[in-house]
Amino acid sequence: METSKLQSIIQGIPKAELHLHLEGSFEPELMFEIAKRNNITLPYDSIESVKEAYKFNNLQEFLDIYYAGAQVLLHEQDFFDLTWAYLTKVHSENVKHVEVFFDPQTHTDRGVSFDVVIKGIHRALEMGKNELNISYKLIMSYLRHLSEEAAFETLEASLPFKDIIDGVGLDSSEMGNPPSKFKDVFKASAEQGYKLVAHAGEEGPSEYIWEALDILNVERIDHGNRCLTDEALVKRLVDEKIALTLCPTSNVALKVIQKMDEHPVAKMLDKGIVATIHSDDPAYFGGYMNENFYQTATALNLSFDQIKKLAINAFEASWLSTPEKEKHINTINDYFGSI
Ligand code: ADE
Ligand code: ZN
Repeated sequence: METSKLQSIIQGIPKAELHLHLEGSFEPELMFEIAKRNNITLPYDSIESVKEAYKFNNLQEFLDIYYAGAQVLLHEQDFFDLTWAYLTKVHSENVKHVEVFFDPQTHTDRGVSFDVVIKGIHRALEMGKNELNISYKLIMSYLRHLSEEAAFETLEASLPFKDIIDGVGLDSSEMGNPPSKFKDVFKASAEQGYKLVAHAGEEGPSEYIWEALDILNVERIDHGNRCLTDEALVKRLVDEKIALTLCPTSNVALKVIQKMDEHPVAKMLDKGIVATIHSDDPAYFGGYMNENFYQTATALNLSFDQIKKLAINAFEASWLSTPEKEKHINTINDYFGSI
């Protein structure tokens, strides 16, 4: 199929994004603008040289640059601008619902208070709901390279904002930081009413996915690429309809896979896994939702039925209510019926 035809079909699909780190949507242009107004000197002399630095061999090389970039965020307005830029971008891509991560510890550890971070993000999400008609859920992620005690402090700091935080997640350096390290804080988070997700099986082994399910009791796995090596795990994911929030351009950028045509998403769909597609850190990996759909569809030669399934799966796996899910899924069915 012609490039532009497929792109316009993907553009028209109503989409849900369930795996997006707000700090990973920080485009270099906005980073420079905020650095300037906060009188911070970036270690780059131009936007081009920033983009030049975005070449990674693994997750850790990316995380080092990602945490450095986040350091220019100081004030509520900075967090608002970051979130608003992301929402306007995905609005232009026909994204209707987002469930976004933020990493409080990346900011509180440098003296920015929890309320500054969350108030800026929340104000933008509310504006996105009212002005762009994008519904949202907010997920606070614990940094797994830090201690469980530090995660407990973050949980404590979040409690005044419990009503606007929907869930907790687990991200950062996966190898050597298994889900089991956070057993107690996930239990305590659930007791506070938070929903649970965790990154697992991105670089780490399938055992980490088991731990996330059995020890943390998460309801969705972020990434989960490594599950296909374990048949019993695949069966569990299928039987319990546990969704995987996959991020194809991220996987190529971080060398989780060498080339897009090695991506496991088509095999996962064939096996009946609730696979979904998202962008992870689009400012660093060069692709928002449409690009992730497009690159996957072309590299794996996905059929319209597979593309439609991916779009529907994301709404099924979301934290929207059943009637809200149905409304979006009906729209997707109508859309595919009309093309
Ligand atoms: N934080 C931001 N992006 C991440 C990723 N892909 N894996 C783990 N932690 C992250
Ligand atoms: Zn992620």
